[in-house]
Amino acid sequence: MAFPAGFGWGAATSAYQVEGGWDMDGKGPSVWDTFTHQGGERVFKNQTGDVACGSYTLWEEDLKCIKQLGLTHYRFSLSWSRLLPDGTTGFINQKGVNYYNKIIDDLLTNGVTPIVTLYHFDLPQALEDQGGWLSESIIETFDQYARLCFSTFGDRVKQWITMNEPNVLSLLAYDLGFFPPGVPHLGTGGYQAAHNMIKAHARSWHSYDSLFRKEQKGMVSISLLAGWPEPADPSSLSDQEAAKRAIAFHLDFFAKPIFGDGDYPEVVKSQVASVSKKQGDPSSRLPEFTEEEKRTIKGTADFFAVQYYTSRLVKHREDTKGERGILQDVELEFLTDPSWKSMDWVHVVPWGLRKLLKYIMDTYNNPVIYITENGFPQSDPASLDDTQRWECFRQTFQELCKAIQVDKVNVKVYCAWSLLDNFEWTQGYNSRFGLFHVDFEDPARPRVPYSSAKEYAKVIRNNGLDGH
Ligand code: NOJ
Repeated sequence: MAFPAGFGWGAATSAYQVEGGWDMDGKGPSVWDTFTHQGGERVFKNQTGDVACGSYTLWEEDLKCIKQLGLTHYRFSLSWSRLLPDGTTGFINQKGVNYYNKIIDDLLTNGVTPIVTLYHFDLPQALEDQGGWLSESIIETFDQYARLCFSTFGDRVKQWITMNEPNVLSLLAYDLGFFPPGVPHLGTGGYQAAHNMIKAHARSWHSYDSLFRKEQKGMVSISLLAGWPEPADPSSLSDQEAAKRAIAFHLDFFAKPIFGDGDYPEVVKSQVASVSKKQGDPSSRLPEFTEEEKRTIKGTADFFAVQYYTSRLVKHREDTKGERGILQDVELEFLTDPSWKSMDWVHVVPWGLRKLLKYIMDTYNNPVIYITENGFPQSDPASLDDTQRWECFRQTFQELCKAIQVDKVNVKVYCAWSLLDNFEWTQGYNSRFGLFHVDFEDPARPRVPYSSAKEYAKVIRNNGLDGH
């Protein structure tokens, strides 16, 4: 179970989930500040990220955890509204710049490669007030923010993620309204937001390519979530088709434009058109790219960044009227296999990761792949002895190793989610993904390693599962 020499072993966090300091040193509010402050039980026990892990003031403690694990990579995100309080480059908050400069410099001094996400769900509120991702004007604003980050940090940061899970965000925030701004636009908002996100990503990749790449020699990608859909009845043609639709709407919706031919998958286009028609709408609810846009979107990623947590069985279902929003368009239902072990919403299916990686290799011309997130949640309270959870990681590493050694998938980096227990969005602090336990009752927010952290450190030292 040895991994290729030089394989990258990382862990990940995101700004709103760990930093706290929500209004410190000139930071502007993000949509998550607004949403959590409004209350209304949309978040578990109305919890907020006001303090979270306190990483804005306790970065040194995070660095100790990183060193204890022996990570080769650390993935974190920049808080857009900490750098640009109103989201635009009209005013740059120098204290925010200093904070991230210190993180980057400390990582490099300790031989840890930073992977930096520009935007991880925490849109500046000022931009949401102008329509957020539903408005086309955000494409230019995002590009200006990206350019600022490339020019400020790109002398040292060589691995960039423009956006985290736009496929999840567009659905939860702009279609279903579960995430801020909290207003549902069923069947339309998710598509509109996704359309603008793809264009904004592409624009910022071109900015990097034309203005920074020559000098900085870095790489830019976008992190997409992908669960693995397995046909519920493998011998049923309609379940097989349903499984194809599942991955098309979920992963390929973003991956095909960016890594393929610049356009949405055919099956997505035909499904949305036909369901729109059934609903009495003569034109499809799915926006279209112009030929010019397709040309500029195609090929705008330097590696494939994917996040995997779980798998589902998929069954064809025509009558999806009970579903909400764009979920109606996919015409399927998700099931689970009772034999799968579950940790909260994560059904533990390590072989799903192997199948997913093979799918990406075959569909997108064998790209370099970074797994920018993978992990397992524990409900609060969680025991420091998390042997069961480590077993999930161990089996996942076995499957990852087979993907690399047997299937020859080109995976270069694996990042565990997460370095620390943190604010798990609408689940608040009730869902603990950390390798380090954080006591959210204690003002000092002590970080204590779970058993999994000690085991992960051994894997990193041995570059694989052998030797212990
Ligand atoms: C993916 C998201 O990027 C991250 O923010 C979240 O905490 C994890 N999934 C776990 O749900």
